[in-house]
Amino acid sequence: MKELITCLMCLLALVAADPTCSCHSVVENNSWPWGDNIISKWNRVTIGDSVARSCDGAAAVLFENVTTSKITDPLAYCGKQLPILEKPIQHMWIRDSNFGRLVPSPKVAVMRISDTNFTKLIFDNTVTYQTQRIYLKNVPLDAIPKNLNAMQNLVSFVAKEIPLQKFILSQFNGLNKLQRITISNNLTSIAIGAADLPALISLNFHSNQIEKVPGDISTLKSLEMLNFCFNKITHLDMSVFNGLDFLQDLKISHNPLLIINSPTTVNLPALQHLHLQHSHLERLDVALWHMPKLASMNLNWNNLTQVANLEGQFPKGAIVYAAGNTWNCTWLNEAATVVVIDQQDRPRCKNLA
Ligand SMILES: *[C@@H]1O[C@H](CO)[C@@H](O)[C@H](O)[C@H]1NC(C)=O
Ligand SMILES: *[C@@H]1O[C@H](CO)[C@@H](O)[C@H](O)[C@H]1NC(C)=O
Ligand SMILES: *[C@@H]1O[C@H](CO)[C@@H](O)[C@H](O)[C@H]1NC(C)=O
Ligand SMILES: *[C@@H]1O[C@H](CO)[C@@H](O)[C@H](O)[C@H]1NC(C)=O
Ligand SMILES: *[C@@H]1O[C@H](CO)[C@@H](O)[C@H](O)[C@H]1NC(C)=O
Ligand SMILES: *[C@@H]1O[C@H](CO)[C@@H](O)[C@H](O)[C@H]1NC(C)=O
Repeated sequence: MKELITCLMCLLALVAADPTCSCHSVVENNSWPWGDNIISKWNRVTIGDSVARSCDGAAAVLFENVTTSKITDPLAYCGKQLPILEKPIQHMWIRDSNFGRLVPSPKVAVMRISDTNFTKLIFDNTVTYQTQRIYLKNVPLDAIPKNLNAMQNLVSFVAKEIPLQKFILSQFNGLNKLQRITISNNLTSIAIGAADLPALISLNFHSNQIEKVPGDISTLKSLEMLNFCFNKITHLDMSVFNGLDFLQDLKISHNPLLIINSPTTVNLPALQHLHLQHSHLERLDVALWHMPKLASMNLNWNNLTQVANLEGQFPKGAIVYAAGNTWNCTWLNEAATVVVIDQQDRPRCKNLA
């Protein structure tokens, strides 16, 4: 439902010609926006019809309707060849199932679990997992599983529609290849603490209930993309991001952000795109912002009349998306000489005295 609302809002934003809206527009069969290419041919194993099919040699196996508490790995349904498959399965997708304990096979490269109930998701820290990507959707994951750090090859972890409320990033420590984490939609707090994830470049907390950007986020030095869109942030001190010297893309749109302040200098040497649209901003002062690579700042659909101290702050070619605000006309004319103002064919300003 939340996903639906998010997408509706995004569609509205698209209608309002907001080109940088980051919502996924592709809604697949089970409303799962796949993180990688859609597989055209799944070898389907539906357990409810009690026909065991061979999975051996199949590149992608979809298990449906697995309802058992005795078997902990659905590959056990694959047919006679098991437990030794000649060729490992590349893609395994379990959906519409109900497990007791679920112990995923270490041989699967991409694992998807959706609309499935289990009591516990268990990883074995005595084996080497080949798994590179995990996608979870609508599963009862209320804690990060113990021994997840046995997944030495994990590159991407995506979990949506899960009840997890508190996320402690250091629980992923040891996953030295992990590049991307996406978690939505019930997080209320995030703790960075002693997180040590040297390959982490993307952290996506789109659509949660987060009220505050953690004060120590800047310890995640390798970050290139950070997404806090559609959360509950009301105050933001931009200097919290100082130290993220590789950060290129910062998304904080669609928050009830009333106040952005920067009492000290904000240094983001690599930042190219800053998304602050739809955030009820009434004031913005960029006097202390140093963003020498900035290519675009999206301020669409806020309540701004001007951006204070804009002159000379950003590269001359930088685009400021400005639709949906009622600008001070004098200011707007001046601003158009120092950056590119894009109002997407809906120019709006008022002659303020
Ligand atoms: C989605 O649905 C179409 C038509 O019903 C089907 O051909 C296709 O295999 C489905 N895709 C997936 C990923 O299930
Ligand atoms: C799922 O399994 C149940 C019970 O085993 C069966 O009644 C039902 O028809 C199955 N559903 C599908 C889609 O196979
Ligand atoms: C999920 O599994 C638990 C434990 O077996 C059970 O109590 C619960 O009713 C199940 N939920 C659903 C939606 O099947
Ligand atoms: C998220 O939290 C809300 C309110 O507490 C709850 O109703 C909803 O079921 C939760 N969603 C998930 C996926 O657990
Ligand atoms: C902008 O301000 C007006 C008047 O205070 C208010 O009615 C409107 O809801 C505000 N819009 C946004 C997007 O905050
Ligand atoms: C409008 O912008 C001009 C130029 O920046 C400024 O001098 C003037 O004070 C502004 N008006 C209001 C009401 O802020």
